[in-house]
Amino acid sequence: MPVVSLKETLDRAFAERYGVPAINIVNDLSIQAVLQAAAEQRSPLIIQTSVKTVKMYGRDQLHAIFSAFARDADVPVSLHLDHCPDRAVISSCLEGGWNSVLFDAHELDVAENLRQTTEVVAEARRSGASVEGEIEGIQGVEDDLGSDEASVQQTLEVAVDFITRTGVDCFAPAIGNAHGQYSSAPVLDHQRVTDLVEATGIPMALHGGTGLSKEQFQDLIARGCAKVNISTALKEAYMKSSLEFLRGAEEKGKWDPPSLFKHQSAAVVEMAREHMRLFGSSGRA
Ligand code: 13P
Repeated sequence: MPVVSLKETLDRAFAERYGVPAINIVNDLSIQAVLQAAAEQRSPLIIQTSVKTVKMYGRDQLHAIFSAFARDADVPVSLHLDHCPDRAVISSCLEGGWNSVLFDAHELDVAENLRQTTEVVAEARRSGASVEGEIEGIQGVEDDLGSDEASVQQTLEVAVDFITRTGVDCFAPAIGNAHGQYSSAPVLDHQRVTDLVEATGIPMALHGGTGLSKEQFQDLIARGCAKVNISTALKEAYMKSSLEFLRGAEEKGKWDPPSLFKHQSAAVVEMAREHMRLFGSSGRA
């Protein structure tokens, strides 16, 4: 069975300094497409679901779709719940077969966040699941969560204390990154990644992957960002390929849904494939 613990996948990537693409899927077609890219590229893969996608399908239905496709994958795959501030949804997904969660309690004060994250880590361990921690909001609204306000960075001491005391498996620092497309080239605090990695020895999660340059990805991965999140790029590949196909269908007056699905799928596979090559995860499975 290729569904493996997130910690196992990340620890190897962290040691060998490559990035594992953590891609937010939106439906069955996108699950199948990112798995196809991973199989082709021999790349480990983290499939992420937003809380919105879990609610749209229902936990068990979404997990069943994931399992139906991941069961036959012969590369390591993990199923991760992205930004979730709601403990009930965290517990439900852990019970429902997710093997990793991001408990995003950055809106709480750090002491309360630390207390609750420690509980989430204990809860996750009961099913062998992993936990990503967050104490600073990542700028940008994604799937109805988050804010466009600039993130408030905590001190290095506060972040290191949170990581060591909670025992999280990876951590999402705010380093000038943002969800969605960047309106101008982001200036990233890459030294903070190095400082956090040196002080804690755990991998970092790089949020806001869409729109970063090849050099930024490679530098941050070399510093210890072993989990690299991609969401907007999938949405754009999916929607833009749909638009392009549907314009052609209208022109020709030919309406064939399977041809549309094939076109959408090819665009998502290509997007995932490019990121696997860029992050150095190709050939690692
Ligand atoms: P992008 O939407 O910028 O790719 O960010 C994805 C992400 O960080 C999901 O948590």
